[in-house]
Amino acid sequence: MKSFKMLTGLTLLALSAAEDLTKHVDVFMGTQSGGNDFPGAARPFGMVKLGPDLLHSGTDSYSGYLPNGKFSGFSLMHEQGTGGAPKYGTVSQLPLVGDITDPLSNITVSRSGTDAGSVGYYKAQTEDGVEVELSASARAGIYRYTFPSDVEKNILVDVSHVLPSFRGQGLGQNYEGGNLTIFADGHYEGLGTYNNGWNEAPDWTIYFCGYFDSDATSNKTYTATGAASSVEQSGGSVSSTSSSIRVGALFTFSDEEVISRVGISWISSTQACSNVNREIPEGMSFASVVNDAVSEWNEEVLSKVTTTNTNDTSLSLLYTSLYFMHLIPTNQTGENPGWESDEPYYQDIFTFWDLFRCSTALMQVLQPTTYEEQIRSLIDIWRHDGYLPDARSSNYNGRTQGGSNADNVLADAYVKGVRGSVNWEDGYKAMVKDAEVTPANSPVDPMAPDSSTHEGRGALPDWLNLGYITPTYSRAVSRAVEYAANDFGLYQVASGLGKHEDAAKYLNRSRNWRNHWNPEQTSLGFSGFVVPRNTTGFIETDPLNDSGYWGDPYYEASSWAYSWADVHDMRHLVDLMGGAETVVNRLDTMFTEGARGSSGIIFDSTNEPMFNIPYLYHYVGRQDLSVSQSRKVAKSDYSTGVSGLPGNSDAGAMQTWLLWNMIGLYPITGQSTFLIHSPWFESMTIDLGGNKKLEITSTGGDDNGDRDFYVQSLKVNGKAWEKNWLTWDDVFANGGTLEFELGSTALNWSTGELPPSPASE
Ligand SMILES: *[C@@H]1O[C@H](CO)[C@@H](O)[C@H](O)[C@H]1NC(C)=O
Ligand SMILES: *[C@@H]1O[C@H](CO)[C@@H](O)[C@H](O)[C@H]1NC(C)=O
Ligand SMILES: *[C@@H]1O[C@H](CO)[C@@H](O)[C@H](O)[C@H]1NC(C)=O
Ligand SMILES: *[C@@H]1O[C@H](CO)[C@@H](O)[C@H](O)[C@H]1NC(C)=O
Ligand SMILES: *[C@@H]1O[C@H](CO)[C@@H](O)[C@H](O)[C@H]1NC(C)=O
Ligand SMILES: *[C@@H]1O[C@H](CO)[C@@H](O)[C@H](O)[C@H]1NC(C)=O
Ligand SMILES: *[C@@H]1O[C@H](CO)[C@@H](O)[C@H](O)[C@H]1NC(C)=O
Ligand SMILES: *[C@@H]1O[C@H](CO)[C@@H](O)[C@H](O)[C@H]1NC(C)=O
Ligand SMILES: *[C@@H]1O[C@H](CO)[C@@H](O)[C@H](O)[C@H]1NC(C)=O
Repeated sequence: MKSFKMLTGLTLLALSAAEDLTKHVDVFMGTQSGGNDFPGAARPFGMVKLGPDLLHSGTDSYSGYLPNGKFSGFSLMHEQGTGGAPKYGTVSQLPLVGDITDPLSNITVSRSGTDAGSVGYYKAQTEDGVEVELSASARAGIYRYTFPSDVEKNILVDVSHVLPSFRGQGLGQNYEGGNLTIFADGHYEGLGTYNNGWNEAPDWTIYFCGYFDSDATSNKTYTATGAASSVEQSGGSVSSTSSSIRVGALFTFSDEEVISRVGISWISSTQACSNVNREIPEGMSFASVVNDAVSEWNEEVLSKVTTTNTNDTSLSLLYTSLYFMHLIPTNQTGENPGWESDEPYYQDIFTFWDLFRCSTALMQVLQPTTYEEQIRSLIDIWRHDGYLPDARSSNYNGRTQGGSNADNVLADAYVKGVRGSVNWEDGYKAMVKDAEVTPANSPVDPMAPDSSTHEGRGALPDWLNLGYITPTYSRAVSRAVEYAANDFGLYQVASGLGKHEDAAKYLNRSRNWRNHWNPEQTSLGFSGFVVPRNTTGFIETDPLNDSGYWGDPYYEASSWAYSWADVHDMRHLVDLMGGAETVVNRLDTMFTEGARGSSGIIFDSTNEPMFNIPYLYHYVGRQDLSVSQSRKVAKSDYSTGVSGLPGNSDAGAMQTWLLWNMIGLYPITGQSTFLIHSPWFESMTIDLGGNKKLEITSTGGDDNGDRDFYVQSLKVNGKAWEKNWLTWDDVFANGGTLEFELGSTALNWSTGELPPSPASE
């Protein structure tokens, strides 16, 4: 009995001593200079992301937040770190002071001072002297307003509020109608319908339910038509099915502090009410919502990775990166307006084109339970919508930038043993649909009218008939190299399921990227690039300068980048390029200042197509160069601070690239291979779930990854290791240890066989 008590005491002590790792998270890191991180309040994978919406001289605010400009609202729905065009900014409130005669006139309020935030908490102040504090649960948000004493205190609910787009590409969101009712107890419910945004979505509807903990002194509902003034309506209920009639309400209070709790639902306003009343019941304090958010982030996310390192910069990069990779996809299980199903449902995939490269692999490592749910959800989307998503928001697939990259994600999960309740026969059928059935070109994408960007593989007819893609199709070259990788994914799953004929067919197809390889195409003295081609032959290009957009042969990167895209066939690529020495020179050239003249270096850390390029030296036995090049990118292109990301976070894709660099491994998606480079810290422990751990230690380095990072020797699970790669089974399936000896000089320690190149004969 006594020892039992002592044990309990100790356990409690251990729990209370658990470190609050959220102190290392800077929610403003990467919010500016194109990083587009969302700094507001949220839970891991939460449906609600409550934050400010800023308007500033025609600038698109992708996450709602901008460092400058005026507040147009504080809304519950946002994406994380995306580009393209803003999505959501829906279900908002805005505090206003004084006598508001035209509430639905797109009112904005100036900002006073600088916003502040931490995990689960956001604070802003308006020029009117109103302090706005925000926190969130998974499906509801809480606002705490502190008004000046001597003013009329109002809260506006404008149902027509969305994040606008000023880019002029036809991707701006539209309000399409909505309604709102104020009930006898003073709470309000309603819905809003919206469309478009980056994924060119048709109308979608979100429901809301809002409560105030103070009695209003007055509440009024309004409509407004076009640019005309708002008209007050009687009866506490307003409704419109037209985009030209805006609806909303204005609540007026006498209390200086007003708390509002608002729930959302994709199903009904009744469900929005039950979401908020379950998660943030009446009387729950603002502080306890914040505390719960902090605990959840510590327990579910941040404590998965621990280190003995004490450098504030490194800890901030580590924990902030972990934070930002867990905001989307959104766990919308039980909140799927599309179909009834017992399967989990996740959306806000923005996008797999960004995430398949190294992010989904880290998601599996850190969140195996959630990851299995995400995989099941993908397959359920195919089951009910007909295709896997390459991207998805507002419950609508799109847009597909290159290949059908969910195939890579499924293949990766399959080869790394994700099983549980996943129906892999169905998973494979979903992949076959991508590989064999051309999606309808409807609706037509004005930026790429030739074929579907909604889902699937729009350029499939050429791929099937010719084994390459002609300029009949936009993005022909970048799609072709991605389709080949997608087909390799089918080969992997078909092999595992014992479908040998299919496996042979798709392995063969996965080599068709070679049909775009023009050995005569030169650039900077190197020969051989993937190029546009038609049935006559190859078409001349400028590999330094052929990066394009939706309507072009290459999407968002040049042939210098896309020539490396098919790592499943790397040995063949090395031969085509002219052997190991040329490959080293060619990679070096990509990192050479001035190689592109005044445009600087070819390597571009701001976008995902180049993610794996610093690590490809592994395939020609130069692990040391992968270490030095990738470390240079990590240390010079990423930093703490608001401009710390080289490009759009893209749902945390950028952050996961950095995290792998800290860990010392890099995943090759679709294979069980991880390339081994060099860890930053003397020790890092990754909790793999189920009492399994990966422990990574190093000696001889600076414990911070800044210097002395060359590997001298490595032990894997206690045994000397000579390959520059390992597999999932080696250290992840059952946990494991990696013991590095590091030093200041490059050493040829990895004399074992090179990483696999499974498609090369
Ligand atoms: C809002 O619209 C929905 C769907 O048309 C309807 O069921 C609901 O009763 C409406 N509510 C109000 C207040 O008009
Ligand atoms: C707010 O509106 C509801 C119904 O629309 C009404 O019953 C209530 O008395 C109003 N409250 C105030 C303070 O105006
Ligand atoms: C408010 O913005 C909407 C959408 O951009 C526009 O249709 C409407 O005319 C604007 N109203 C006013 C009063 O400017
Ligand atoms: C912490 O890390 C940063 C970035 O690597 C480095 O510049 C700085 O010198 C380190 N600080 C200490 C005290 O070692
Ligand atoms: C996702 O949401 C559902 C419904 O709230 C919940 O049951 C499930 O546990 C969630 N998944 C994870 C991994 O938290
Ligand atoms: C592989 O592809 C080639 C050329 O496209 C074709 O001739 C051959 O039949 C294919 N083999 C298999 C097994 O599909
Ligand atoms: C292929 O492209 C070349 C170069 O643009 C052009 O001259 C040729 O006519 C094209 N062939 C076909 C069949 O379109
Ligand atoms: C790329 O090509 C375009 C069109 O020929 C040209 O205007 C531009 O200056 C080129 N840029 C570079 C960096 O060479
Ligand atoms: C490293 O050592 C192996 C085995 O001795 C050798 O085959 C390889 O060429 C060496 N690599 C380099 C870059 O020196």
